[in-house]
Amino acid sequence: MRRNIVAGNWKMNLSLVQATKLVSEIINFEIPDKVDVILACPFPYLMSVNELIGKKENVFVAAQNCHYEESGAFTGEVSVNMLKSIGINCVVVGHSERRTLNNESDEMVKTKIDLLLAAEMEVIFCCGEPLEIREAKGQNGYVSQQLVDSLFHLSGEKLKNIIIAYEPIWAIGTGLTASPEQAQEMHLFLRTLLTEKYSSETASKVSILYGGSVNARNAQQLFSKPDVDGGLVGGASLESESFSQIIASF
Ligand code: PGA
Repeated sequence: MRRNIVAGNWKMNLSLVQATKLVSEIINFEIPDKVDVILACPFPYLMSVNELIGKKENVFVAAQNCHYEESGAFTGEVSVNMLKSIGINCVVVGHSERRTLNNESDEMVKTKIDLLLAAEMEVIFCCGEPLEIREAKGQNGYVSQQLVDSLFHLSGEKLKNIIIAYEPIWAIGTGLTASPEQAQEMHLFLRTLLTEKYSSETASKVSILYGGSVNARNAQQLFSKPDVDGGLVGGASLESESFSQIIASF
């Protein structure tokens, strides 16, 4: 019905030699038929990782970001069309580190999504609340506003190219994972929002990943929840042993 996905977000880690070794190991994993693996690599490695993956089924490469303008005087930035031109078909947008450290707004995220969908690319859209919002029990309102601001202008047809990653900021890189129940509660809430805005058929086809300290020990319990369709994995995606165990957790 919808794809199970384990996406590795390498962030700003690994040398090319380390990345090459990791990918060579990943392509030898026994990946369950029902699982797609996506590797979100740093820009300089995208082409070589894509080449290494070759025609390996169920493994794909993604960029971690793109710019919200099509082209122009934006020194150091990378456009959607540049990514497309080197064979990249998927980009992570709205990661909380970019929202926080690079002041990326919902409006910028929305613009990036529009450019990516116009280029017929796939989007991993990240959302999630900071700790103080969770402590004040405001997470549903906070996350639903992120969807309204960046996604809900899309047609149901366009939504097919969106993967949602729910990543509570307090769980990212902290070792503090949301419990499987907390993850399920938010994922069900998100799917209900999609049902209300679009239809239950459309909502049932959107993969919703959980991110935030996913590891080989907690992945199985998280992925066993009905609305958790996989994970966006940071730290634990950098080593083939933990990443392969996470992939095998479905
Ligand atoms: P983490 O990162 O698994 O290291 O918490 C997840 C993410 O930021 O995507």
